[in-house]
This record gives sequence, C-alpha cells and structure tokens, in this order.
Amino acid sequence: MRNIRMGLLLGVLGLAVHAGLAQAAEPVKPSEMTGKELAFDRSLGNCLACHAMPTVHDATSPGTIGPPLIAMKARFPDKAALRAQIWDAAVKNPNTPMPLYGKNKILTEQEIDKVTNFIYGL
Ligand code: HEC
Repeated sequence: MRNIRMGLLLGVLGLAVHAGLAQAAEPVKPSEMTGKELAFDRSLGNCLACHAMPTVHDATSPGTIGPPLIAMKARFPDKAALRAQIWDAAVKNPNTPMPLYGKNKILTEQEIDKVTNFIYGL
C-alpha cells in the first residue's frame, strides 16, 4: 500500500516538474514582455547592439554605435521626446543608423510605451 502511495506521489511530483519545464521552455509572447525584455530581445528592440545601458554589464558587450543610455530623465526631461526618439530617430538625424521602431512598425505602440518607460528609468 505504502509503495503505491509513494509511487503516486512521485508521479504527481514528476508531472509538476515536467509542466514547469515545459512552461519555461515556451517563448514569451512580445505582448507579454516587459520593456526590458523588449529592449534586449535580439529580434525586437535589440538596443544593446548599439547602446550600453548601466544595468547591463560588459559580459554582453553592448555596441558603441549609439550613446550609452544613462541618466535619461536628465537628458530627456520630457518623456514624450524620448518616446519620439525611439518612434522615429530620423526626425533628429535623417541619416541615423537607429531603426525607426514606430514609423517602420518594428515595435507596436504598446511595445514602444513599455520600452520608453524602461529606458526613462535608466
Ligand atoms: C543600429 C544601431 C542602433 C540601434 C539598434 C538602436 N539605436 Fe538608439 N541610437 C543610435 C544612434 C547612432 C544614436 C545617436 C543619434 C543618431 O545618430 O540618430 C541613437 C540615439 C538614441 C537615443 C538618444 C540618446 C541621446 O542621448 O540623445 C535614444 C534614447 C535611443 N537611441 C534609444 C534606443 C532604443 C530604446 C533602442 C532599442 C529599442 C535603440 N536606441 C536602438 C543607434 C541605435
């Protein structure tokens, strides 16, 4: 009797662990990502390809094509101006290498809001 119960218990535990792993392996949908995840994701924001960020340490070797994103509130007191820069960097610099995230629909409006909030806090 005991062994059967024990076996059942292990079976249930095994299932729980299995379910946990399956969940972890599933990719997060962009609509469920945080601003940080969107900014870091290589196929979405990929901001680190060009910008260093203070919360990220050199293990990831951020790019230096763009300026480091630090003290953003001091440099962009107006959050709308920061959002505009991310939405269409070509307004300030027509030859910018920075992708036009909003204008070219690389990120949705909601994703740009999340990225702006994350960057604004750096
Ligand atoms: C291919 C390179 C590249 C990528 C990718 C890139 N940027 Fe940029 N970014 C630049 C460059 C270069 C500038 C400097 C201004 C210019 O030349 O347009 C810049 C400027 C900025 C600025 C203005 C900084 C300041 O101090 O004036 C912000 C904010 C910014 N980027 C945010 C982002 C965010 C957020 C992402 C990701 C969603 C991103 N960038 C992705 C290249 C890039």
